[in-house]
Amino acid sequence: MEPHALPAAPAAFDQDVFRQVVGHFASGVAVITTALDGQLYGTTASAVSSLSMDPPMMLTCLNQSSSTHDAVATAGAYAINILAADQRDLAMKFGRKGPDKFDGVPYRLSDHGGVPLLGGALASMTCVVTEAPRGGTHSVFFGRVVEADFAQGQPLAYYRGAFGRLEPVQELNAYTKVRQWVLARRTPLGRDLDISTLVGEMQAEPDDVFNALVKLSAEGLVARRQDGAFMPAPITADFSDNLYDGRATIEIGVVASRIHDLDRKLVDELAGIAEAMGHERADGGASLRGFLELHSRFHQLLIAASGSTQLVDSYQRLSIAGVWGEAWNDIDWRARLDHGHVVRLAAALRDKDADAAIAAVHDYTAQAKRFARIAIESRGGRV
Ligand SMILES: Cc1cc2nc3c(=O)[nH]c(=O)nc-3n(C[C@H](O)[C@H](O)[C@H](O)COP(=O)(O)O)c2cc1C
Repeated sequence: MEPHALPAAPAAFDQDVFRQVVGHFASGVAVITTALDGQLYGTTASAVSSLSMDPPMMLTCLNQSSSTHDAVATAGAYAINILAADQRDLAMKFGRKGPDKFDGVPYRLSDHGGVPLLGGALASMTCVVTEAPRGGTHSVFFGRVVEADFAQGQPLAYYRGAFGRLEPVQELNAYTKVRQWVLARRTPLGRDLDISTLVGEMQAEPDDVFNALVKLSAEGLVARRQDGAFMPAPITADFSDNLYDGRATIEIGVVASRIHDLDRKLVDELAGIAEAMGHERADGGASLRGFLELHSRFHQLLIAASGSTQLVDSYQRLSIAGVWGEAWNDIDWRARLDHGHVVRLAAALRDKDADAAIAAVHDYTAQAKRFARIAIESRGGRV
């Protein structure tokens, strides 16, 4: 039988492009350490991955030019020290060559293999090398994990050649949850927002909850007393009018600037949502919640067509939909809510008719304000 012909060697690939593309893979940062003949070795590495649960195994890719590489290969054991967010200096120190990398660095030797475990690391694993195949300039050290530990804290992150923190995501999550909590009036008006309760309920860091409350104070959704305590701020009709005006300004800007180059698929999707809203209203069993979810999806998709995450964020931050909750339960929403503006907006976007689209946004804003006023007034002027 004829052997298969080998595929032709691929054309040389630009190394700079490759480096940049690979840099888009966000990772944590580790220091790989080992000990050989009484001497300690360590190198910063981001090419680290879990491999198998049973048995527990890790992969670590080290450049053959690294002195730590040679020491690991000979010692047959290494530690993966996963760095915490405040260990950027260690990442830099171990990312360079030098004889004195461990000077001033607290560490202890692992029970198995006697390799250095760095103080303050977020987590550490001691591994015994089982295989070390080579790939290009590197060796891949397959490590069987024999000892592992972790601490509380945040990881140091590495993305596109720069160190960073993962906290913004966490901060944003805490903000979103605290906002929902406040708007749903889980803490009733007139009562204090207890930070430790929020921390427990949201499994969030106290700092993130505090920062969320400060942000919500700036938005007018939370009030801060002289003694520093936070309380939910009542929402009045004027306050809600302002928010709807802000949303309209954003939406009109997006419509005016993007109506001529909106993606056909998006326009069809918006028309589909408008139609589905009609079905929800006609269906006696449908819920107000389902109707409002379609409604907010419609507007968010349209704002997202701006391509700006900041605008999408701002638009969402101007929403107080969460506050209506029970206030709208008592109202006959099918009779009072009209989704004609959404149908008209979808049609105007399809026809690229900016004036009609902007008029539909104004209609929507006027209706939303009216509806909010009814809900607020049904609760004595403050929700
Ligand atoms: C953020 C960062 C990630 C790195 N990742 C790796 C890696 O995964 N593998 C590797 O061999 N070198 C990596 N390096 C480079 C080594 O840390 C560097 O070459 C070091 O000087 C090697 O030291 P040594 O020769 O004492 O072992 C990284 C450096 C930095 C700063």
